[in-house]
Amino acid sequence: MLPDNCTMVVFGGTGDLTHRKLVPALYNLHLTGQLPEDFSLVGVGRKLKENAQYRAELAVSVEEFSAATYDDQSWAAFAAKLYYYAGDLHDAESYPGLKDALKTCACDSGNDGNYLFYLAVAPQLFASIAGNLARFGLSHAEKGWRRIMIEKPFGYDLTSAGELNKALVAAFDEKNIYRIDHYLGKEMLQNILVIRFANEVFEPLWNNHFIDNIQFNALESEGINQRGRYYDRAGALRDMVQSHLLQMLAITAMEPPAENCSPSIRLEKLRLLSSVQLWPEGEPADNLAFGQYKGFRDEKDIATDSQTETFAAVRLAVNNARWQGVPFYLRSGKKLQDKQAKIVVQFKKPPGLFARERLANPSGGRGELLNLLTLKVQPSEGVVFQFNIKKPGTTAEIAPVEMDFCQPCAFMINSPEAYERLLADAMIGDTTRFTSWDEVEKAWSLTD
Ligand code: BG6
Repeated sequence: MLPDNCTMVVFGGTGDLTHRKLVPALYNLHLTGQLPEDFSLVGVGRKLKENAQYRAELAVSVEEFSAATYDDQSWAAFAAKLYYYAGDLHDAESYPGLKDALKTCACDSGNDGNYLFYLAVAPQLFASIAGNLARFGLSHAEKGWRRIMIEKPFGYDLTSAGELNKALVAAFDEKNIYRIDHYLGKEMLQNILVIRFANEVFEPLWNNHFIDNIQFNALESEGINQRGRYYDRAGALRDMVQSHLLQMLAITAMEPPAENCSPSIRLEKLRLLSSVQLWPEGEPADNLAFGQYKGFRDEKDIATDSQTETFAAVRLAVNNARWQGVPFYLRSGKKLQDKQAKIVVQFKKPPGLFARERLANPSGGRGELLNLLTLKVQPSEGVVFQFNIKKPGTTAEIAPVEMDFCQPCAFMINSPEAYERLLADAMIGDTTRFTSWDEVEKAWSLTD
């Protein structure tokens, strides 16, 4: 499906996200013919600058950050769609000017009255920008659609998220609010549904009769870079578990949706999140582990006595018939050895004949005969199934081996960046890969 003609207005048009992710993603969509026929972007920033300067600055970033190869000719065609508007977002007086600019600049022609507002700014500004868009008549229109895309973090806790949501729904209809969880744009997360429900070999085993536990890891080798001010307040639990990891859990463990479409999938994710609780056995502290990397307190904008966790591990239970008794382990942290995100489904040990057998030379653990299904989210994408065989030869030893599906090797294409997919979805009007307020609310009440 081709996206609708539209103008995308980016608040934070000169910021890091715009330079590193948004414009490179849009450039790739342009190269692959996935932008609408009439598309324009208006970057909103504080500093005064001409369109030409704005385009030149973005060219440098696209050359550095785009997953596709940059070339002058296609850039020139794309750059002609980019505009700049100088305005102070704190100042309500900037908005009538923006409204006029949107009417008068060449970006207005051919967009069929469709506007996508993207908030790539500090979260404290989300509510006031949405409020001002409504106040100056930019959030609703007789002709075309008005959508708003909101970056993370969606609040700091349940109360603040609720307040933010109230401000948003006062300005935009729920169906036009696109709350980003960029993990939902990752190829393997979208693949989970197909792997589970399009393979009769997996789904019948996807329950507490056959599965021992499921692990969700999103580990990073980088530290917090320049984000100390945000991160020291947030920490790993709020930053990663509340959003990305709970979404991975929801898709992995939810019941089959009635239809492969946004309302059905969101409904099942919500139902699943409503059944999640801390593992009921033991004290809460037995089910949570926090850590902080060495040197964190020396990072810029971090308190010298900071107690903020840069690593979090949580043991959860899903309180329904399918998952009763199966622990779900969620782990995330920074400055760890590798950057790696994956989901590991560990099946129960075999009963009967081989119940007491052990691997002869286990590389780790106790040498139990395990079956593991690993869904590799990043950096490499694929699915690996570990099972046991008799070692060839006269020996009776048992050894684990792997069936390994490597996605880029099999299809020879690089998966699109998450932002490419999410931007295209928002222009098409598909909310499947965005979180509904109900899901965000459940995830916050659990995290709190
Ligand atoms: C963001 C977090 O949502 O996800 C960051 O705020 C984190 O702290 C990032 O580094 C990880 O995303 P990815 O796609 O690199 O795994």
